[in-house]
Amino acid sequence: MAMTADGKTDSVERRGARISSDADEARVQRLRAESDAVLVGGRTLLAEDPRLTVRPQELVAERVGRGEPPQPMKVAIVSELLDMPGGGLPDPSRFLSDGGGRVVVVTSGRSSGAALARLRDRGAEVVVLGRDRVDLVAALAWLRRAGVRRLLVEGGGTLVAALLAAGLVDELRLYVAPLILGGADTPTPVGGPGIQRGSAVELSLEDVHADPDGGVVLRYLVTRPSA
Ligand SMILES: NC(=O)c1ccc[n+]([C@@H]2O[C@H](COP(=O)([O-])OP(=O)(O)OC[C@H]3O[C@@H](n4cnc5c(N)ncnc54)[C@H](OP(=O)(O)O)[C@@H]3O)[C@@H](O)[C@H]2O)c1
Repeated sequence: MAMTADGKTDSVERRGARISSDADEARVQRLRAESDAVLVGGRTLLAEDPRLTVRPQELVAERVGRGEPPQPMKVAIVSELLDMPGGGLPDPSRFLSDGGGRVVVVTSGRSSGAALARLRDRGAEVVVLGRDRVDLVAALAWLRRAGVRRLLVEGGGTLVAALLAAGLVDELRLYVAPLILGGADTPTPVGGPGIQRGSAVELSLEDVHADPDGGVVLRYLVTRPSA
């Protein structure tokens, strides 16, 4: 995830402000190219309609050379699909259409049959796992059965908090941009209800990389999931 020096992942408008630099975007492209699937949460999906594609042709060629599909699978976790044309996604939708790869939406029993059908009509595979919210353990097991070994989670903070709480995160990469956006309620890399100090997720710092433009990349391994 990309955050500002004050720990924000979006501006107060919550429309997916660009926080990554060009150098960071290039790193994200490589991470995507090395992943079997790329995952986002439902609010990120609706706020940004993200493309989640690998764009440099040399990275696409490397994937194909390894016998992989040209694009990683795109996956979204959405509690309730909106009961409206297109499930709340624009038409055309970058998430659903760009790249031409496999697109999976995992949702819960709260989504209506009509909403599932509308999204399927637009080419997505729709999977129902969980009653009121998506069962994340079941979702990751489904992805593993679908051949996903390396999953890149691109946020947002609600999804990341839930994955951390379930002990499902191995590694965390944070890009820190030389920017301040402020706002008491603007999103951060890890949202959710919060964790008491005694149960904090513990990390080991594996690498620090400073870009010439003032950006910093922190790479951590999760050494103890939330207790
Ligand atoms: N700078 C960055 O790197 C970056 C990256 C991504 C996103 N963002 C920003 O982050 C913001 C969105 O983040 P967000 O935290 O609001 O939402 P989010 O994490 O993108 O979306 C979480 C969604 O997943 C649903 N969900 C279903 N099952 C879940 C489960 N078991 N656990 C957790 N969530 C589950 C939640 O539904 P319910 O809670 O309704 O049940 C919620 O709608 C946007 O402003 C976006 O632009 C920034």
